[in-house]
Amino acid sequence: MDAIALSELTQLQQVMDSFSLDKNRQRPLITLSFGMSLDGKIATYTGDSKYISGPVTREFVHELRHRHDGILVGIRTIEADHPFLTTRLKEGQGKNPHRIILDSQLRIELNEPVLQPKPDSKTIIATKANHGSRKIEALKKLGVTILLDPTTSENIDLPWLMLSLNKLKIQSLLVEGGGTIHESFIKLDLFDRIYAQISPILIGGKDAKTPVEGLGFATLKEASHVAFHNHFILGSDIIVVAKKGR
Ligand SMILES: NC(=O)c1ccc[n+]([C@@H]2O[C@H](COP(=O)([O-])OP(=O)(O)OC[C@H]3O[C@@H](n4cnc5c(N)ncnc54)[C@H](OP(=O)(O)O)[C@@H]3O)[C@@H](O)[C@H]2O)c1
Repeated sequence: MDAIALSELTQLQQVMDSFSLDKNRQRPLITLSFGMSLDGKIATYTGDSKYISGPVTREFVHELRHRHDGILVGIRTIEADHPFLTTRLKEGQGKNPHRIILDSQLRIELNEPVLQPKPDSKTIIATKANHGSRKIEALKKLGVTILLDPTTSENIDLPWLMLSLNKLKIQSLLVEGGGTIHESFIKLDLFDRIYAQISPILIGGKDAKTPVEGLGFATLKEASHVAFHNHFILGSDIIVVAKKGR
């Protein structure tokens, strides 16, 4: 990994360290991360997304995973990509983050790779489904921690979840998509840093997923404004780092 990428990771670590010293914080430090095409797509219209980013960028993303306490994705990313959500560094070392899945209806299949137990990390499913106790029992047998959302919101209530993760001592959270999940975090202003990995490929298609889905903001005034903090070339890709605020 080149010096500029390593220096960005060192800076991120410093931000995390000072954030974790803040005794009043009610949530983890939140990083959004996605790999997108030059035309702003994170998958093709058929859902193919492996891999938009080049190998050096993927290594960088594993460095991000290594540095965060938790990694979070939505159920549709699990269903489309069947990810492990583990850290796989070139040197073979690396800390696995706790894996958090937002799955309101508890429809995750029991054979998903993300459910394979790991000695150093928990798999946590946040759900609203307290029915289907057989599924819950099967998941618990696999060592999965179930967080039952007691709120009346339609999907998983993110403020409640952030408090719950805080209680589980998850002080930094890497949100790796998809776009529906990112939109929820952005709408609630629940993020500190964004790592957009832009690759030299054009995917096109009105039905191809973008990094931020949902309805979006109605006006530019309401839109979430960020400040560019850093940018650098990594292999064939460009990494853009943004922070909240102007
Ligand atoms: N290139 C990349 O970096 C990258 C990374 C990740 C994913 N992807 C691609 O993105 C696509 C999946 O993205 P997606 O937007 O369809 O789905 P998603 O964001 O992965 O998952 C969305 C689902 O999460 C559940 N959910 C629970 N609580 C939520 C909340 N508070 N806010 C939002 N969602 C909540 C909802 O399903 P329930 O109501 O059933 O719970 C919702 O439909 C796939 O094609 C994947 O390949 C690309």
